[in-house]
Amino acid sequence: MKPASEIDPKHLGTLWVLNLDESTLVSPASRVEVIFQRIGPEGAPSLAQAMGLNDPAEVLQRFAAGKRCYIGNVEGVLATYGWVSFGEELIGELRLRIRLAPGEAYIWNCGTLPAYRGLRLYPALLGYIVNDLRAEGLKRVWIGADADNLPSQTGIVLCGFQPIADVVLVRALTIRIPWLRGCPGVPEQLVEDARRALFGKRYEAWLTALSLARQRATSSHHGEEDL
Ligand SMILES: CC(C)(COP(=O)(O)OP(=O)(O)OC[C@H]1O[C@@H](n2cnc3c(N)ncnc32)[C@H](O)[C@@H]1OP(=O)(O)O)[C@@H](O)C(=O)NCCC(=O)NCCS
Repeated sequence: MKPASEIDPKHLGTLWVLNLDESTLVSPASRVEVIFQRIGPEGAPSLAQAMGLNDPAEVLQRFAAGKRCYIGNVEGVLATYGWVSFGEELIGELRLRIRLAPGEAYIWNCGTLPAYRGLRLYPALLGYIVNDLRAEGLKRVWIGADADNLPSQTGIVLCGFQPIADVVLVRALTIRIPWLRGCPGVPEQLVEDARRALFGKRYEAWLTALSLARQRATSSHHGEEDL
């Protein structure tokens, strides 16, 4: 019998999407009064401190590269923050780079300071961000959450995002590769869009490797991974 890890794809996280041109957007309420705003390089010192960085260099580099940051202040304290990218962004944990189409944005590296967690600041921040992006004419927003990050997933659901695909680690012949497994009911075209956005030039090669692996598994009566 094969070890379970070779049969069951490992679930790393989930990719979610929110279409901004559809109906009304939800704006989850926080449990405490908060003032949201978009900040620029002038806010780098306090932002770096909130992010637990020793100096603002990385934050300044992000702003210089055209990335955006939104924050929420509670009684004058920066309590929650979240970054937004256009064009492309590295999904660090997965070592993948998401390439966004024009009119799309990707929300990442969000955090609420430990003393302010559980106050629904994160879903309220997401709501503020997506409303701001829609006002600018953006069409679609992507966000990811690790499989074990329930607080993040809760906030994403509250903000109206739809799960598109699970990021799984699957066996393809001799290697294991990250892959996107469409969530139930999601149109295949949307899952394909997400795969191309995430895997870029490797997409066709990985598709071929997976289909070969599938054929081999079927012909040798080995378990086939459910993609
Ligand atoms: C994920 C994160 C941003 C959520 O922020 P938040 O402002 O606390 O979000 P919420 O208030 O909606 O809390 C979400 C859930 O966390 C749990 N929670 C409640 N109190 C908590 C506390 N004191 N500490 C930790 N989690 C708590 C609850 O299950 C809550 O859900 P509920 O409101 O339905 O009870 C925050 O936990 C965090 O900064 N985590 C580390 C960084 C991270 O994982 N970022 C993910 C996005 S990139």
